[in-house]
Amino acid sequence: MKLLTVVGKIILLARTATALNNGLAVTPQMGWDDWNAFGCSLSQNLVLSTANTILKTGLRDLGYHYIILDDCWSSGRTSSNVLIPDANKFPNGMKYLGDQLHAQGFGFGIYSSAGTKTCAGYPGSLGYETVDANTFASWGVDYLKYDNCNNNGQSGSQAASSARYNAMEKALAASGRNILYAICNWGQDSPWIWGPSVGNSWRITGDISDNFNTQNSACPVPNSGGYDCSVTQIMSKQATISQYSAKGGWNDLDMLEVGNGGMSDSEYVAHFSVWAAAKSPLIMGNDMSKLIASDYSILANPAIIAVNQDPLGVAATYRWTRNNVQLWSGPLVSTTGSSVNDQVVVLYNNGGSSTTVSVALSDVFGSSSSVPSSQLEIRDLWGSRLSNSQAQTILNQGASANPSWLYNATAKSYATGLSQGDSMLLGTSIGSVTGASGTIQQTVSGNGCRVFRLRASKASSTSTTTTTTTSSSGQSLQTQWGQCGGQGWTGPTECQSPYTCQVQNDYYSQCK
Ligand SMILES: *[C@@H]1O[C@H](CO)[C@@H](O)[C@H](O)[C@H]1NC(C)=O
Repeated sequence: MKLLTVVGKIILLARTATALNNGLAVTPQMGWDDWNAFGCSLSQNLVLSTANTILKTGLRDLGYHYIILDDCWSSGRTSSNVLIPDANKFPNGMKYLGDQLHAQGFGFGIYSSAGTKTCAGYPGSLGYETVDANTFASWGVDYLKYDNCNNNGQSGSQAASSARYNAMEKALAASGRNILYAICNWGQDSPWIWGPSVGNSWRITGDISDNFNTQNSACPVPNSGGYDCSVTQIMSKQATISQYSAKGGWNDLDMLEVGNGGMSDSEYVAHFSVWAAAKSPLIMGNDMSKLIASDYSILANPAIIAVNQDPLGVAATYRWTRNNVQLWSGPLVSTTGSSVNDQVVVLYNNGGSSTTVSVALSDVFGSSSSVPSSQLEIRDLWGSRLSNSQAQTILNQGASANPSWLYNATAKSYATGLSQGDSMLLGTSIGSVTGASGTIQQTVSGNGCRVFRLRASKASSTSTTTTTTTSSSGQSLQTQWGQCGGQGWTGPTECQSPYTCQVQNDYYSQCK
């Protein structure tokens, strides 16, 4: 125990020298990006009208903060190498656009590539990191999506890729503006290994397509790169690397396809649910002017978003597949004041037929000995989904017409709402389950998913006597997933056995 703690501290020192420390993406970033629905057809009008809809429909106040311009916004460089926005698409320039977005409470995102050209052939930032980072900062940019096209062969090893992405990180850090850094290198050269010290998120596969279940050979998972990746293919990659996500740095499963028309309602529910539980950034990729009620009520489900924005920042772990149903689960912050963490349980069915599965709590918690003795309430996190008529009313009249239907994270953060057990974040109660021999038996529709939140009542957890353990120095020991270090942290730094204090990044270490 003592030895392990010492090892943890050595790792902390070793990582501190290089870890990214911009304080951003403490929970996965949320927003909208034009690429999935519009490709190169972006413009000032599109961006501002989209932002307006996101604001009016309450999506901004549900957490969708960043409005991101993808590829094809520029038209070249000046003689002093400064990027020029396309004057037809952006007649008032980028500073103006950033000011407009900021005035509406959004963050402003932009795109470039760690290559000589972007993927669509516009100027890339390789070799121009400093001038470009300074230009972005002067426009008020808050977020950079940084692609991997035309990288001049500077890939093929972690050293080559991390050096190329690190050059832009250094330039952003020196720009005088705090800019969220989204690495988009399609999982090449294992960015989940070096990414935490370089960026706030890193893509783990080639681009997503609006497809639930295809095993498309253009997406060579588990290898990196490619394109046309289905939801199921991306999840198969995430299953092997979920443990690398932590506060400040996340596996990015790519932008959402909800609203683009290629999947059924239950497939979009499943897509959104597993992205949320995996702690992927939630970046909408749809045409807001065509948003329909049923897609709105997916994107606007606060009980699912609260899983994504959970203060513990632990991505759900893949457990098993039975009859095409995958079990994913992981800890969430307690919503009852209990010392027992809540748990998210995702049943993801990528087989075509409705299936009833029986899930043992020992599988949910990873082992029998980790199952708490308290009774656990089961909450169905899709149980309080808005009806189509409610969603349509919001789309027609705006969110402010019926404020009680939506959660407002601008007024009350998810962390606060969860600590208060806010009912909008908890779906509906469907029963309870207790102990290592307890099971949850539920039916999952074909190509669909169920999401549950388990929580111990405060009373029952105090009745199971939890003994507070202390170290030899008298310091109290943190339980699993508790914070045990990071910049400014003054709480306990040692963990209860068998957990050790593991560094996630400069400002967060946790007992794992
Ligand atoms: C959410 O709360 C903020 C701050 O109180 C408020 O300005 C905003 O209008 C609210 N949003 C909605 C959709 O009601």
